[in-house]
Amino acid sequence: MKGVILAGGTGSRLHPLTRITNKHLLPIYDRPMINYAIEALVKSGVTEMMLVTGGTHAGEFLRLLGNGQEFGIERLLYAYQDRPGGIAEALGLAERFVGGERVVVLLADNIFGRSIRRSVDAFVKQERGARVVLYEMTDMDHLKSLGVAQLNGDGRISRIVEKPGTPPSKLAVTGVYFYDHRVWEVLRTLEPSSRGELEITDVNNWYVEKGLMECDVLEGFWGDAGESVTAYYNVNDMVRAKGANRD
Ligand code: DAU
Repeated sequence: MKGVILAGGTGSRLHPLTRITNKHLLPIYDRPMINYAIEALVKSGVTEMMLVTGGTHAGEFLRLLGNGQEFGIERLLYAYQDRPGGIAEALGLAERFVGGERVVVLLADNIFGRSIRRSVDAFVKQERGARVVLYEMTDMDHLKSLGVAQLNGDGRISRIVEKPGTPPSKLAVTGVYFYDHRVWEVLRTLEPSSRGELEITDVNNWYVEKGLMECDVLEGFWGDAGESVTAYYNVNDMVRAKGANRD
């Protein structure tokens, strides 16, 4: 399985911290944010990956990560996203790199307390389709800024709503996604959303509608460090207290 780490976007919700750097280069406790996504993949056995980024600080990733060997990466490729056209657009840049293989996609501002290996292993065994990882939240207001999954009686996802005014459940969709070869065809059918982006939730709902979406519910801490300055510091505190990507 190949890995794709998405580290583009504008980081506007962390302004002015991100005026002079890329969000994913900001520190989380003792390391740059991007290092946690790399660690999450390497610890799950995914060692061939592509990093997609953009903007004026793209070169800093090369300076930080080089060929990736220091981090246990066997093969590291980079792609440049010309403008922040959305998560699904950024993923499209990795099509040739992934080829006909399966792919795990990680948003580089997502930090996981526990290893995502369980989901990686489950997707290896999954015959076809896609997989998302859900996180149960208590704060309903917080869910309004995320993708939220609605489940049917069998524990399967019946739809995902992006940034819902009224969240249909307490289950946030985290930024780790698994896809089979169908994903590239789905990407070609997407239209920009009202915020002018190609949405990963539209990709996920395609799989949901075809009955090809599986899910896991995450154990341990999860945080989106790019949501707000408060969220960024909450994630820092959690990582400092408990660590990240723990076995
Ligand atoms: O964090 C989980 C949430 O991430 C999910 O619950 C949502 O369903 C999903 O849409 C996404 O929401 P965000 O609004 O938080 O996405 P954001 O625009 O912050 O982008 C997340 C990451 O994707 C960011 O760290 C960088 C990367 N990205 C984003 C855009 C818009 C790119 O690489 N290129 C882009 O054009």
